[in-house]
Amino acid sequence: MKILVTGGAGFIGSNFIRYIIKKYPDYKIVNLDLLTYAGNPDNLADIEDYFGEPAGSDRRYYFIKGDIRDAILLESIMPKVEAVVHFAAESHVDRSIKDPQNFLSTNILGTQALLEAARKHGIKKFLHISTDEVYGSIKEGYFKEGDALLPNSPYAASKASADLLVRAYYETYKLPVMITRTTNNYGPYQYPEKFIPLFVTNLLEGKDVPLYGYGLNRRDWIHVEDNCAALDAVLHNGEIGEIYNIGTQVNELANIEIASQIVYLLNEPPTRLKFVADRPGHDFRYGVDAAKIKALGWRPRYSIAAGLVATIDWYKNNRAWWEKIKSGEFREYYEKNYQI
Ligand code: NAD
Ligand code: TYD
Repeated sequence: MKILVTGGAGFIGSNFIRYIIKKYPDYKIVNLDLLTYAGNPDNLADIEDYFGEPAGSDRRYYFIKGDIRDAILLESIMPKVEAVVHFAAESHVDRSIKDPQNFLSTNILGTQALLEAARKHGIKKFLHISTDEVYGSIKEGYFKEGDALLPNSPYAASKASADLLVRAYYETYKLPVMITRTTNNYGPYQYPEKFIPLFVTNLLEGKDVPLYGYGLNRRDWIHVEDNCAALDAVLHNGEIGEIYNIGTQVNELANIEIASQIVYLLNEPPTRLKFVADRPGHDFRYGVDAAKIKALGWRPRYSIAAGLVATIDWYKNNRAWWEKIKSGEFREYYEKNYQI
């Protein structure tokens, strides 16, 4: 299969490309990524090395620096691929609260540009990567795929809008789409503004860590490799027109519990945990019912305990990767917006 992956230089996209390239020796991947602050060529340095230069006719991985909103560029890429796996997005809730504009532009208009190009060129499968955040917060229990969308942050609202456009392209044009809605991912190559890599790297630097509010908000954490396996299952065995929730339903913890485990695993004192002002509109809990993806044979492999140990090891062993990020754009952004 020839797949266009969008946003493949980001966290989940880069893990997905690595997963697919290793598992399917006859697949070819085109990675279209704008390399925003979150897109990082270092995330796929091993894949680039693996295939070497210069590009030969048998080359299996191509990178294109470009924007999913660029209709002319999409016109030239679509005829060369059969499937689209669409990760590209602005993805950080806090940034969406401070400056929503980019989120609407990339997440909504960018998705529409891709859908339109896919429709024109008869793409055989369009897998749209969405999030559990589109359902909004749920105190207890789990949302099912048919439940109403009640997003609360500009990020979640932009992703929900994209989901509705994907649905419209299926209903109106019969574009063969599928949607996945995954819970919070963690693992290697996650940009260190997100909760787990921020806490791990701050502690490795001997700094404090900022818990929003009382640290009681809850998330269901999925290791990125488990998410990649679930996306693989949907891409190959999912039904066209369907939505699949992806979550573990067993790795749910309050933020303060995760933070305490990280502090403990890094032998730091609990006084490193600092309670700071809460995020505006902070969703208390996300919860999705994963029965439908499990019916495709998928199961998560990582417990949160094992996943955290592996992830902390990765950040310990890959200091150069995150130190480069933290000394660049991240530092300026963080110093301007946060107390720690
Ligand atoms: P990320 O921020 O790490 O990566 C996003 C990538 O998209 C970056 O490489 C960036 O350069 C690229 N990009 C941004 N705007 C672009 C544009 N206009 N054109 C081309 N490329 C562009 O995000 P992530 O955490 O890897 O998330 C990937 C996808 O998964 C997103 O759609 C996100 O909504 C979804 N998702 C993420 C999580 C999570 O926990 N991280 C959970 C559920 C769903
Ligand atoms: P985050 O990684 O931003 O993911 P999301 O908001 O998409 O779930 O945050 C995960 C949880 O951690 C969320 O409840 C907010 C909280 N959080 C903190 O307490 N401190 C932080 O510095 C960050 C980034 C997040």
